[in-house]
Amino acid sequence: MNSLAGFIAGIPKAELHLHIEGTLEPELMITLGKRNGVSLPFPDAETARKAYQFNDLQSFLDIYYQATAVLITEEDFYDLTIAYLTKAASQHVRHAEIFFDPQSHTNRGIAFETVIRGIERAVVEANSSLHISTKLIMCILRHLSEKEGLEIFEKALAWKQWIAGIGLDSSERGNPPEKFSTLFKKAHHEGFFTVAHAGEEGSAASVRKTLETLHVTRIDHGVHCMEDEELVAELVQKQIPLTVCPLSNVRLKVFETMKQHNLKAMLQKGVCITINSDDPAYFGGYVNENYLEAANALQLDRNDIIQLAQNSFIASSLSTVHKQLYLHEIERYSGNQSN
Ligand code: HPA
Ligand code: ZN
Repeated sequence: MNSLAGFIAGIPKAELHLHIEGTLEPELMITLGKRNGVSLPFPDAETARKAYQFNDLQSFLDIYYQATAVLITEEDFYDLTIAYLTKAASQHVRHAEIFFDPQSHTNRGIAFETVIRGIERAVVEANSSLHISTKLIMCILRHLSEKEGLEIFEKALAWKQWIAGIGLDSSERGNPPEKFSTLFKKAHHEGFFTVAHAGEEGSAASVRKTLETLHVTRIDHGVHCMEDEELVAELVQKQIPLTVCPLSNVRLKVFETMKQHNLKAMLQKGVCITINSDDPAYFGGYVNENYLEAANALQLDRNDIIQLAQNSFIASSLSTVHKQLYLHEIERYSGNQSN
């Protein structure tokens, strides 16, 4: 391991863009398929991994939603979540803001309660045994109607004590943010933290419209903002964070290669950029691999890595006191590493 790889591996960091369903590793998918008697298009984990070749966001989402069919019981959601949190803690993720897509389960007849109880049990356990803090963000599927989104939102209110935020994911194309303006208004009214995917397959205009109509605190992806200089200036001035997912962007062909990724350019302009793994079971790496591949391709140095790790806590929905505690951890780590 070269020294930058070691530095990345050990630096305390937060992960802010992570779909729990996207952490379903092929091995666990096969195990759960057998356990629940769900037949899959893949006979084994190796075949599944080989089939994960995507042309764009939609070709990924088709496989991603198909794989969720193996998640049936509370135990399954627990197993999925504890596996992710164990891996994240081993990569020195100190805080994770986890997306979950309840509609992709309730629409298959799985109770909302089953999903959230399984996830929450893992979160509570990981907090004490792995020393990792977590917040849950419930994502609304934008390819479905706002009416359906509102139905799940109303249902989720019974579990509000376990849900910190509301997000928006799935197919950006053809599903503009304003389709969900009523839902996000209600989310703000209920005091939720809000985020939304934008500018992944959509343009800078989609990022702008998302900020104008949904008033979210953070933008997930947002990499197409660079097409609009005024928008970039606004992101910098208001310090609106972007949760960037480098390996996802390359696997879904948002950028042809990692060398072409614009995250360093955005960072240099002063945008609050964070690095995240999105759907690590599908895109070839967890958060540290995302930092490392971006660092190698874009020649990021230690100071860039420190900035990115600091940004990950600054952009989180933690309280100021908690942010300070984690920022001090980075300071101690960086100081020790330079001695
Ligand atoms: N974009 C939109 N929806 C998603 C993604 C993504 O990267 N991952 C899982 N659902
Ligand atoms: Zn995502």
